Amino acid sequence: MSEYILNKDYFINVITDLIALAEEKKEYFSELDSAIGDGDHGMNMSIGFREVNKNLEEWKAGDINSLFKNVGTALLDKVGGASGPLYGGFFTKMGLPAKGKEAVTFDDFVEMMEAGVAIIEKRGKAVVGDKTMVDTLRPAVDALKTAYTDEKMAPKEAMKKALEVAEAGSDSTIPLVAKKGRAMRLGERAIGHRDPGSASSAAIMGIFYNNMP
Ligand SMILES: Nc1ncnc2c1ncn2[C@@H]1O[C@H](COP(=O)(O)OP(=O)(O)O)[C@@H](O)[C@H]1O
Ligand SMILES: [Mg+2]
Repeated sequence: MSEYILNKDYFINVITDLIALAEEKKEYFSELDSAIGDGDHGMNMSIGFREVNKNLEEWKAGDINSLFKNVGTALLDKVGGASGPLYGGFFTKMGLPAKGKEAVTFDDFVEMMEAGVAIIEKRGKAVVGDKTMVDTLRPAVDALKTAYTDEKMAPKEAMKKALEVAEAGSDSTIPLVAKKGRAMRLGERAIGHRDPGSASSAAIMGIFYNNMP
């Protein structure tokens, strides 16, 4: 199991797919945000990942940490909405366990995911049930740890489990009232609508899964 390796190309492919995702799902994410926010979530993701796209070629030369730090910094600098600092932090912190590395073990990968989600929780102060991206990401990362570390599932199987939990986590936001973010102001009118950040974060988890060897 410890021979399972995720190399720099894996992470470059993930980022390349994230750039494509931000364009493909731009309208969908903004539609979700129109219902319970200000309608810009798709635009925010697109602005951020277009900036990533401009620089990715240059960033490919660095280690995995610097790659993620560059992606995170771009999102932080270019995205105006709440999701900018949250996803900016996610990618920046995710890179730390990969400092100086051109490839990581799956244990490292699990640490990377935990570091990423932890900074979103810290910055946004949201917990599961607040109708945010945390409803997707926290249960998913916990499921990843349980599946891989405790249940000894193979890495890709464990990530598949995490993805299923992420998608269920996003679904779980639909009947909720929001306790964080713009949707908070709507009170009960937010009921019946999926949280946009929960949808984008589930799609991000899907890309990490799909690219795994
Ligand atoms: N405090 C928070 N903690 C975690 N996630 C949050 C928080 N506030 C907002 N979000 C997430 O950000 C998403 C909205 O992103 P976006 O539309 O890009 O930014 P904005 O709300 O500033 O317009 C929400 O759907 C939610 O998932
Ligand atoms: Mg918005």
